[in-house]
Amino acid sequence: MYKGWLTFLMLWVLGEIFSHTANASSSQVPVLASRFQQRNRGSTVSILAGNSMKGVAQRSRRQLDDSGPGQQANPVQAAAYLDDLFKDYATARKQLVGSFNKRSRIAVVFMCFNRAGVIRQSLPAVMRSDGVEQFDLFISQDGGAGYNIEKDLHFPESSSIVYIRHKFNLCTGLHHHFVKSFTFDIMDYDGLIIVEEDNVVHPQALQLLARMIDLSIEQPEIGIVSLVDMDNSAFLDDRKYAEGINRVNGTMGHLWVYGFHKSRYEAVRSNLYDYYNTIKGHDYGMKHEPPLSDKIKALLVSKGFPADGELSQDRFFIYSLENAGYRQRYQTLFRFFEPIGYLGLHHRHTETAFFNMFGRGMFNGRIKPQAAFDVTKDTTMLLDIKAGVRDHINRVWLQYFPGKVHEELVNNTFVSLMEGRLNGVEAMADIKSAGMKYIASKTGNKLIIATFAGGNI
Ligand SMILES: *[C@@H]1O[C@H](CO)[C@@H](O)[C@H](O)[C@H]1NC(C)=O
Ligand SMILES: *[C@@H]1O[C@H](CO)[C@@H](O)[C@H](O)[C@H]1NC(C)=O
Repeated sequence: MYKGWLTFLMLWVLGEIFSHTANASSSQVPVLASRFQQRNRGSTVSILAGNSMKGVAQRSRRQLDDSGPGQQANPVQAAAYLDDLFKDYATARKQLVGSFNKRSRIAVVFMCFNRAGVIRQSLPAVMRSDGVEQFDLFISQDGGAGYNIEKDLHFPESSSIVYIRHKFNLCTGLHHHFVKSFTFDIMDYDGLIIVEEDNVVHPQALQLLARMIDLSIEQPEIGIVSLVDMDNSAFLDDRKYAEGINRVNGTMGHLWVYGFHKSRYEAVRSNLYDYYNTIKGHDYGMKHEPPLSDKIKALLVSKGFPADGELSQDRFFIYSLENAGYRQRYQTLFRFFEPIGYLGLHHRHTETAFFNMFGRGMFNGRIKPQAAFDVTKDTTMLLDIKAGVRDHINRVWLQYFPGKVHEELVNNTFVSLMEGRLNGVEAMADIKSAGMKYIASKTGNKLIIATFAGGNI
């Protein structure tokens, strides 16, 4: 998808280079041009095949996965522990939260394991959230972690926090199941917001998500609500759209900071228990190997989900929602958190590679969370966003190129943005890099053109 965007950019820039160099340069240029065009007639992206950009773009969009690092697990004990909790919700509640009294409709669950360095950044951000006293906050720490959060971090008096340290190592599959079942079956909340440990949330992220959950209730196609995981601020006007949300395919993006309403849980509850019963007792870290992979695949098939689909519980949840008619998610236009996942759980990239892909920025202004609005409901708003995209590209574009940006690229960027598949950080870097190559080409250096046409951008 992103490759399509890049192809538009490349075609346009090549066109520019050839039109501006045609007079000056040797016969090599038209040859390159026609080779490029030929290759692109057959397959829109063949010129990019094998280049690094493609790899990066795919990687950045691949991970709706949740396999953690190798944790020392005893799957049988973990299964027995959870089975026991799920047997009797009242007993489980007493065991897990003691005499804690609910005071909110919405539970916020911070899920973590043992990375102290990450938790020290991300948990305080949750605890410092605006209006945190309006939420019930739970820390669900997977078992086997040597790090005791209570002994390390101060829990403010104003917030109601329950710290749950599991007795056994659940791994991400069982852990996610626990969090959902805990929130809705055991504690009977109306809504759940999940923050995974490697995300530092904006002070208003919880309020915004809570508002989005409320807005989603009456929207028959919306399953989860989430904070966009890409920083697309380079293409958007924050004065108008900071509170803007849009509808994207439910399968887009990660499940890093997200929420959903009880009704959505109820729609997929029995599916989730089927998944739970399939994976429990197995080492979830080995879910891509038989016998567990075969069992999960059989489950996918029995539910009518894609047989070659991803095996993770996150993906199973999304498939289940889709099957129940919740095909879309509500997503923010701006990023209200900073992912710091380069430290390991989701990504095994270096810090630099991670930030080149995801960017460092999060929305750094203030909003009115109650004013969140669905931009897809108003055509004039969509046209305005598109005009803004054009304007934002041109601010950069005109620094390099003689004319304004090609309308197809504007449209393609806009469509990618609205579908939740634009990586604004990479896209802006690509535009600048293309611009620099264009300028270099004007100096008449044929080698650069050759490299460029070879797809080395
Ligand atoms: C949503 O994504 C799924 C797979 O990820 C795809 O099969 C489906 O066609 C997409 N739907 C839309 C409306 O793009
Ligand atoms: C914009 O792009 C989309 C997808 O690439 C395409 O379907 C649509 O026709 C384009 N619209 C315009 C006005 O070019």
